[in-house]
Amino acid sequence: MNLSVVILAAGSGTRMKSSTPKVLHKICGEELLFYSIECALLLSDDVHIILYHQASRIKESCQARFGDRISFSIQDYDRFPGTGGALLQDGKLLPTKYSKLLILNGDMPLITPSSLQKLILISSPIVLGVITTQSPFGYGRVILESGKVKQIIEEKDANKEEKKVCTINSGVYCFERNLLESYLPKLNNHNTQNEYYLTDVIKLAAQDSICIQSIDVAEEEFCGINDKSQLAQAEEVMLARLRKQAMKEGVIMHLPHTIYLEKSVRFEGECEIEQGVQLFGQTLIKDSHIKAHSTIRDSQIISSDVGPMAHIRPNSHIRQSHIGNFVEVKNSTLRGVKSGHLSYLGDSTIDEGSNIGAGVITCNYDGKAKHQTHIGKNVFVGSDCQLIAPITIADQTLIGAGSTVRKDSQKGDLIISRSEQKNIPQGYFAFFKDKK
Ligand code: UD1
Ligand code: CA
Repeated sequence: MNLSVVILAAGSGTRMKSSTPKVLHKICGEELLFYSIECALLLSDDVHIILYHQASRIKESCQARFGDRISFSIQDYDRFPGTGGALLQDGKLLPTKYSKLLILNGDMPLITPSSLQKLILISSPIVLGVITTQSPFGYGRVILESGKVKQIIEEKDANKEEKKVCTINSGVYCFERNLLESYLPKLNNHNTQNEYYLTDVIKLAAQDSICIQSIDVAEEEFCGINDKSQLAQAEEVMLARLRKQAMKEGVIMHLPHTIYLEKSVRFEGECEIEQGVQLFGQTLIKDSHIKAHSTIRDSQIISSDVGPMAHIRPNSHIRQSHIGNFVEVKNSTLRGVKSGHLSYLGDSTIDEGSNIGAGVITCNYDGKAKHQTHIGKNVFVGSDCQLIAPITIADQTLIGAGSTVRKDSQKGDLIISRSEQKNIPQGYFAFFKDKK
């Protein structure tokens, strides 16, 4: 495709009311800007990101994710603020590789390559994506005259009549490079925000009777995110897409609208996910059943069942295991393990055939450092035991309920560490004298 893409991401994003740059806010675990970059890279090998506010922070995040597949320009914001100013470098259109230019805003994570493809295939010197909406507030209104685009008026510059217009500018345009190059230096900042508006290029071109093709695009995909409420709405849309995709791949989801999952989560084989489950980060679920209201982050669950209400924290590898309710696992590798109830298993390895009784705790932290617990094969840990790390429990060890274990075991050991029980006859009545 003979196309360069420029993504505008230099704005301050004041409406987000946050010290984090707007385009680094996330939906479904992924930065807003990354969605548009991914889309752009599918369409072009010449992708430019325009930065200014918190430029180095944004650039670093982008490079960590996309390497050198994208290039960056810093907007001359002091001289040329605004979306038009963003495209200027030394007062001229920034250099790009191809003669066609797709402009995207960095705050539109919901755009899809297929919608953009439709827009760029139209052969017209200027293609403008427009949205017909019931809630035009905050967006640039597209003013038509006998069906032709005449100009775009920003919310802050619009009069009462113009504000009623329900056709809005999506902020996505496709320009012939030469054309943009000739109009950009003609922009001025005579508006409420004293900015150089890219939208004014449309007005200048219309005055010269240049054909401006407007194309209807879906509000759901193209609406920009300006505040936290729009951020939440966009996340809902993205979640619905991710769930739909997972179900298409064969995942069973119960009450799917209650399930949260991030973009990076992967499913393989046959999986069943119950209501209220939350799946974060680099998580893989393979041939497993995740029961209601469990939370899993950056972990692998293979041929296992987990939950309800289990908490699987980063770097856990659980295979052929049964993890029951109120069990927390962190940074641990479990293979062929049963841990049915109320346990904390952290910084541990537990091998095949081992059973972890209710209420078992790996005491991994001594107040200064974290330590490892290793449990071998076919170990039986009775209920309510504390295993004080660092510790190694050999294969086929039996640990009596209620034990506090601080010494390693040898294969075949029975460990009991609890104080002798005393039964005092009539002690109840000695204490509750009135209940005789
Ligand atoms: C812009 C459009 C508006 C459109 C809306 C769609 C203009 C003047 N207005 O308004 O017509 O309806 O998008 O979402 O273009 N940016 C820069 N440099 C700047 C200013 C902004 O790179 O100096 C970037 C921002 O980071 C952002 C994008 O441009 O990614 C849009 O800026 P924003 O302030 O959100 O523009 P809107 O007011 O939403
Ligand atoms: Ca915007």
